Parts: sequence; C-alpha cells; structure tokens
Amino acid sequence: MDDASPPSRRLYIKTYGCQMNVYDSERMADVLRPLGYGLTDRPEGADLVVLNTCHIRERATEKVFSELGKLKAMKAETGGRMKIAVAGCVAQAEGAEIMRRQPAVDLVVGPQAYHQLPELIARAHRSDGEVLSADFAPEAKFDSLGAGGAERQANGVTAFLTVQEGCDKFCSFCVVPYTRGPEFSRPAAAILAEARALAEQGVREVTLLGQNVNAYASEIGGLADLCRALAAIPGLDRLRYTTSHPRDMDDALIAAHADLEALMPYLHLPVQAGSDRILRAMNRGHDAKTYLALVDRIRNARPDLALSGDFIVGFPGETEADFQATLDLVEAVNYASAFTFKYSRRPGTPAASLPGQVDEAVKAERLERLNTLIERQRQAFNAVQVGKTLQVLIDRKGRHKGQIGGRSPYLQAVHLDGPERLIGQIVPVKIAALGPNALSGNLDILEPA
Ligand code: 5AD
Ligand code: SF4
Repeated sequence: MDDASPPSRRLYIKTYGCQMNVYDSERMADVLRPLGYGLTDRPEGADLVVLNTCHIRERATEKVFSELGKLKAMKAETGGRMKIAVAGCVAQAEGAEIMRRQPAVDLVVGPQAYHQLPELIARAHRSDGEVLSADFAPEAKFDSLGAGGAERQANGVTAFLTVQEGCDKFCSFCVVPYTRGPEFSRPAAAILAEARALAEQGVREVTLLGQNVNAYASEIGGLADLCRALAAIPGLDRLRYTTSHPRDMDDALIAAHADLEALMPYLHLPVQAGSDRILRAMNRGHDAKTYLALVDRIRNARPDLALSGDFIVGFPGETEADFQATLDLVEAVNYASAFTFKYSRRPGTPAASLPGQVDEAVKAERLERLNTLIERQRQAFNAVQVGKTLQVLIDRKGRHKGQIGGRSPYLQAVHLDGPERLIGQIVPVKIAALGPNALSGNLDILEPA
C-alpha cells in the first residue's frame, strides 16, 4: 500500500450526536491519515465519506438515511469512485438494515471497530461488495488507536479525550447500553499518555468523555484519582468530564471538586425527570429527593459550581402532575443550562412497549414550557456574570478584526478585544455585557508579558 504518500485522498467525515462521536471522528481521521487521507470540509469530490451517526432519538436516525440519499447521487456522479462508510451507533444497531435500505453504502463500522477501518476500506475496494464490522471490543479499539497517544493530533487548545465507554445502567428509554455495549474504562496509563501528547501540542483544557464517565474505574482508581493525575500534567490547567450519572457521583469525586483547582466548576448531571413515579419507570435508580440532596452535597463542596442537565418530557405514563414535578425540580436546582428532549420511542428498549404513550402535541407543549423555564434560568445565570471577572481560556480569533474569543469556567462563550497571541492563554476578563449566545468583556489586565 502507498502508506507513506502525502495526503492524496480526500476524506469527509460528518459527525452526528454526542461529543464522543466528535472524539471518534477525530480518531478515525488519525487512523486514516497514514493511508494518505486528508480531511476536507465538503462531501463533493471526496474519495471517502464517513457518516458518524447517532441513534439516540428517532429523528437522529432519520437524518442519516436522508443524508445517504443525497450521497448516493453524489457517488453516482463519481462513477462509484466515492466510497461511503456509515459509522457510529446507527451502524452498530442497524448495520444490516442500512446495507439493505441504501446499497450505495460500501461499509458499515460500529463504534468499537474503527481501528479496523484501513482493512475494511481495502476490502471494500477489493470486493466492491459490502463490508460490515460491528464487534464489541473496546479494548482492541483503544489498543490499536495508538494507546501511547503518539498519533493523537491536537486541533486547538481544547480537546476531548474518551476515558470510558458503554453503559450498564439500562434506563428504560435508552439505546446506549445496546449500541455502545457494557461499561469499559480505558487504562489510566494510556489516557495519561494521550493527555501528555495533547498538552505537548498546546492543549490547555481536556474534557474527559464517557457515557457514564463517573463510573470510570481502572488501575489508578476512580475518576477522582484520574483527574488528580491529569491535573499534574504541566500545561493541562482545565479539566471537565461528561456525562455523569447521579448514582456514580462518589465522595472522592465530590471532594475533588472542592480541592482540585483544575476541575472546572461546571457539571453536567442529568436527572431526566422530577417525578419519582417516572424516575422509577425510567429505571434511573434514584428518586428526586436523592438527586436534590446530591446537588446540595456537591454545592457545599464547591459553592460556585453550576449545573446542567438532560430532561425528557412525555415519557410513557407522564401525567400533568408528573411533568409539574419536573418543573419543580428545575426550579429547585436552578440550572445554568440544560438539554431537553421529547421522549422518542426506540425499538428494542423496555419503554417502547409501555402503555400510556404520550400524545405528540402534549409532548410539544410540555417541552415548550420546560424550555421557557430553563431559558429563563440560563439568562439569569449569564446575567449575574456581568461586572464579574472570569478566567477565560482564549481559544480562537473572533469574528471581527482585533477580536478574540474563549470559554469561561462555565463553558460560556466570551468575546473580547485582544491580540491573537493570547490564544492558548487563560486570562482574566471583566464581563461587560450579555449577548444572546455569548458574553462580551474586556481584558482585566494591562497586557500580559
Ligand atoms: N427519547 C428522548 N430522549 C432520550 N435521551 C436518551 N434516550 C432518549 C429517548 N429515547 C436523552 C437523555 C440522555 C440524552 C443523551 O438523550 O436525556 O441523557
Ligand atoms: Fe442511556 Fe441511562 Fe446509560 Fe445514560 S445512563 S447512556 S441515559 S442508559
């Protein structure tokens, strides 16, 4: 093979869904680079198109099939030269169905099989047939995706780093335990090597990813131990982790929030609903009171910590009173931000066959009410920052000349006037105003040397 050639083939990757898919897409690009594939930002003219798909809600799946329809026409124009790969959770769950529904697809590769991509692509070229790989073997995946981290290419001053995959919780609405398989934690040694490689390339902030990231357990201990080891890496000044399950929020992790400066005071801690009856039907393994008590404990450890969450409205059997309990919980917690979803019936999950499926119009109406409340909380949270000085990690040029942009500890976008050489630095910014999607402010120092 022409492994050593400069980028001679064009690779287009479209990423759907969660941050783990963003991470996986970057790693797919890393695996394919030695084969001569360079990234392009349009599918037209690409030699290989990869759709990294999401299966979490029905609409996410449908988007993939509609995109494949468009790609089919594009592929025909290239006389079949363009290869189309479907990766991610739809690939895992519906590989055979994709092949049947869309013959233009050359290969289907599940989330645990990306390291096999070079081989799968070669096979697709040889056979002109269809190739499918959907094994569950995260260990093999991470082993061959450069466990030493040496091949990991950073792309800016912030990076995602997958430390855990899969889920054993089996919430009754969710496909993840089926698409991503059982909980698996990467060895700390491999994670630390990857993090060091990132830091050496100028990364200052790492977001640790896992479907149940706080269930992390390895030779080093739990997530708190991993965070402490990562915080010791020179240059890695900011750590975040997502997504956490309330049941796995242990004392050690809460303590880390109290005394680990690198751990940012912003936590995504989904609760999904506020009614105990619904939480039980969702198989969440905790009630509303336990969640609220947990939030109190975390806030006692780190008083300036802000929270975000995920919510599902219209779960089967949800009454107006159940929904009101969700609104009450949101009022009690006071979120800085949240993601809200209408319940989507996913075939194969226990909730799909529950009685009392809620009318779409009712779901839409509840979603709107919940969104109004959360938007009010988000605006209020942003408004209290005005006049304060926040530490901002500058990560990009601004839209206008002389402007730069970055993120606050709470992941808020912040714009300010300043020189581009500040990219990669954490600087104090006095917040002056609140825009619809970002804060704006001024450097709160004369000029760093
Ligand atoms: N319907 C609606 N939302 C869902 N989520 C997961 N499964 C479903 C579903 N079937 C939401 C949950 C989860 C987030 C990633 O997606 O809120 O936390
Ligand atoms: Fe899905 Fe629940 Fe697992 Fe989260 S914890 S991935 S919602 S089953």
